[in-house]
Amino acid sequence: MEICVVGTGYVGLVAGTCFAETGNDVVCVDVDAKKIERLKGGAIPIFEPELEEMVKRNAEDGRLTFTTDLAEGVRRSRFIFIAVGTPQDEDGRADLQYVLAVANDIGKILNDGDPGPMPKVVVDKSTVPVGTADKVRDAIRARTDKPFHVASNPEFMKEGAAVQDFLKPDRVVVGTDDPGVAELMTSLYKPFVRTGNPIIVMDVRSAEMTKYAANAMLATKISFMNEIADLCETVGADVDMVRRGVGNDRRIGFPFLFPGVGYGGSCFPKDVKALIRTADEYDKPMQIVRAVDDVNTRQKKVLIRKVKDVYGDDLKGRVIAVWGLAFKPQTDDMRDAPSITTIRGVLDAGATVRAADPQALEVAEGIFADEIKDGRVALFHNNYDAVKGAHALVVVTEWNEFRRPNFERVRGLMAEPVIVDGRNIYEPGAMRDAGFRYLCVGRPAVG
Ligand SMILES: NC(=O)c1ccc[n+]([C@@H]2O[C@H](COP(=O)([O-])OP(=O)(O)OC[C@H]3O[C@@H](n4cnc5c(N)ncnc54)[C@H](O)[C@@H]3O)[C@@H](O)[C@H]2O)c1
Repeated sequence: MEICVVGTGYVGLVAGTCFAETGNDVVCVDVDAKKIERLKGGAIPIFEPELEEMVKRNAEDGRLTFTTDLAEGVRRSRFIFIAVGTPQDEDGRADLQYVLAVANDIGKILNDGDPGPMPKVVVDKSTVPVGTADKVRDAIRARTDKPFHVASNPEFMKEGAAVQDFLKPDRVVVGTDDPGVAELMTSLYKPFVRTGNPIIVMDVRSAEMTKYAANAMLATKISFMNEIADLCETVGADVDMVRRGVGNDRRIGFPFLFPGVGYGGSCFPKDVKALIRTADEYDKPMQIVRAVDDVNTRQKKVLIRKVKDVYGDDLKGRVIAVWGLAFKPQTDDMRDAPSITTIRGVLDAGATVRAADPQALEVAEGIFADEIKDGRVALFHNNYDAVKGAHALVVVTEWNEFRRPNFERVRGLMAEPVIVDGRNIYEPGAMRDAGFRYLCVGRPAVG
């Protein structure tokens, strides 16, 4: 099938590439000319495991092309997937301006000249609030009388494992009221569900709601466990033991039960807020989801509080080493990353920061450009370089390469042997024996 994917970010590039991988002819469109040039030259603009090689192979075989020309993509294709960003607006809503701009343009393109294979199926893959498909339909309809369908197909991939998630999804959700579109979408996704995972066809509004419900549920597990961890610290319990005791209950399970520094990234924070706003607009305030968001806002500051527990509120003259900048391992994405809250918090208290990350340095250079210029933030690829002269090492992201460092070397490089572990990746007893004062999340501090 001929497919156009509009928006060549984390979702669009992975989806487009995986559709090409199963033999479809895919054109990926983006307004970012630099990104498209890079992709045409065989370089991918993000870090995502397995993606680069798959992009290259499909591009070389001619099944995957890149362009800034939406009209070319629309005319060539039967399916048009909208995968542009839906960031949070200043009120916490999902900002639909990019989605609706694409819808407008599609309407114009369909109306002007030969539209190519028809009728088009316009698919909302971006995460969008309930009712957005209607807005997309209205925006296209305002420009053309030609026939088209609008469907919803929310994406559940995780950054860091996006290719595998797309190739082997737990489920595919398709929102449409049209049996023909349901059939087309089912055949498009069939190669990805050969082991029997379901393609669930439902009405459009339920599909739009499913994405928010899934993300809010996962965020709830995280905030719940972070709140339990906080109480564990107060009452002298060990959250890791509690996690094991709880997770073995098959009704609950282990995923998303690790306490930490709060959820970040490009999805949970904005999607939780957007769901709260949708509920408010329908006069149905969501108490649980609001609490999830509040707990997370507090949790993102947990490491700042712990550093201050050691050195007091004034961190002037203190050097804080940070291991991990990406919002989670195996990505270079720093959108809403807890590392940003942590670094800004210790900078505001007067500290300087030396931070290391295996993949996110280029992104971090943009975020901390001013602080790098005035010497308050330094970035390193090598994690040992970051701890030189540090009064505390703060572990924010649990990259594998941080799990078993040479602690003797780390202690030798640091000004003070203090580790604040936001991911509980080290054993308190071993840290005490290695000569560190060790603070973690939901477990007793040692040393
Ligand atoms: N990142 C994830 O893990 C993930 C997972 C599931 C769902 N989602 C959702 O998918 C959507 C996209 O997320 P992302 O992380 O890929 O975003 P992104 O910011 O990485 O990519 C969006 C891309 O859209 C492009 N764009 C903007 N306006 C355009 C236009 N008019 N025409 C063509 N291209 C345009 C931008 O230049 C950018 O390259 C969001 O709604 C997000 O919530 C993201």
